[in-house]
Amino acid sequence: MRPHCLLILALVLLPPVAAAADRRGLITGGWQPIKNMSDPHVKEIAEFAVSEYTKQAQGQNKLVFESVVRGDSEVVAGINYRLVISAKNESVVDPAADDYEGIVWEKAWEHFRQLISFHQLSKTN
Ligand SMILES: *[C@@H]1O[C@H](CO)[C@@H](O)[C@H](O)[C@H]1NC(C)=O
Ligand SMILES: *[C@@H]1O[C@H](CO)[C@@H](O)[C@H](O)[C@H]1NC(C)=O
Repeated sequence: MRPHCLLILALVLLPPVAAAADRRGLITGGWQPIKNMSDPHVKEIAEFAVSEYTKQAQGQNKLVFESVVRGDSEVVAGINYRLVISAKNESVVDPAADDYEGIVWEKAWEHFRQLISFHQLSKTN
């Protein structure tokens, strides 16, 4: 009887856990490097991440998109894009471009896009 109970418990518990992981796009793994970085769609996603971040910061942190440095994507009820984005911080006098990592979740068929996370990558030099 015990193993059956555990199995049923697992079946009941697993789907919501998996769905939660999908929404945050962190646990599912399976990141693949984006092969064609000149795809205009990748740039569009990066620009969305920068403008969404600026919008959420309510003008406190105005970033200006420069370029996409590199990126990965993974399929999760849509596609997660994890992009390294070069951008300038307009709040700084004479800004230099820094690298930021933005994660965007897109469900293209629903015209749905959401900024999952955005932060500056630590400077290496
Ligand atoms: C990359 O994407 C660009 C723009 O869509 C396209 O012109 C080019 O042929 C693609 N390159 C490869 C290797 O698929
Ligand atoms: C932009 O610069 C301002 C002033 O130094 C700083 O407070 C802010 O955190 C910076 N924003 C980002 C996204 O790095």
